[in-house]
Amino acid sequence: MGTILQAKNVCKQYEGNEVLKSISLSIEDGEFVAIMGQSGSGKSTLLYNFSGMDTATSGHVFFQGREITALSEEEISCLRLEKMGFIFQSANLLKNLSIRDNIIFPGFLLGKASPRELNNQGEILMKRMGIFEIANHDIKKVSGGQLQRAAICRALINNPIIIFCDEPTGALNLAATKEVMELFNKINREGTAVMLVTHDARVAARADRIIYLEDGEKKAELRLGKYQDEDSLPREKNMIEWLQGMGF
Ligand SMILES: Nc1ncnc2c1ncn2[C@@H]1O[C@H](COP(=O)(O)OP(=O)(O)OP(=O)(O)O)[C@@H](O)[C@H]1O
Ligand SMILES: [Mg+2]
Repeated sequence: MGTILQAKNVCKQYEGNEVLKSISLSIEDGEFVAIMGQSGSGKSTLLYNFSGMDTATSGHVFFQGREITALSEEEISCLRLEKMGFIFQSANLLKNLSIRDNIIFPGFLLGKASPRELNNQGEILMKRMGIFEIANHDIKKVSGGQLQRAAICRALINNPIIIFCDEPTGALNLAATKEVMELFNKINREGTAVMLVTHDARVAARADRIIYLEDGEKKAELRLGKYQDEDSLPREKNMIEWLQGMGF
């Protein structure tokens, strides 16, 4: 497996306040990594600094071997559009566009596929995510779970190699959370790496690896999923013990 993302001693300060304290972390091809930690521990900051949405105060971040901490804003924007997908707690879809047009919009911005190809790709994604029947709907007339599925389609339209998700299920009820998480697992099985911030242990339990942050430091790491040996503790028990150890 190759390394997609490598962070070396990443520090972030806001007004002298150290929010990330020398974090080193790698994400491998096709991995599913969950970031947990209490409110204010630096989870979102980590995600933004790793994906080039924000710039570290010191340290280095490499994306496919290329140092993104050394790129211009324009270069990083192109890289993000082409190689990364983003999903947040709220879907943030554009109000005046249909679900379909919202989904294919980043494809137009990238400008590498024809409108016809983008429409086809959008349709395939909507079918996979179970929202094809609402393709032409106004975004105000669909449920939160459907909006979030549309946001997932939009994040996938340019075939990213990794998707970054900040509390993607934070605004969803239990049933919609389960459905959306099943989609993330499906996307990941098909080869897209996922880096996902969550407060929800049930959500994190679907990852291959959980990183636990405390006050801007990487406090602990738990390997699950594809890393778990056959003879180790059952997945759920392993995780519950780990979370208890972290004071949850
Ligand atoms: N733009 C900013 N300016 C100043 N301080 C910031 C900024 N962004 C984040 N912080 C501070 O950095 C710390 C970490 O914030 P961050 O948003 O990364 O936490 P989090 O773990 O994602 O929390 P939550 O679970 O509530 O989303 C907090 O103390 C926050 O107040
Ligand atoms: Mg956050």
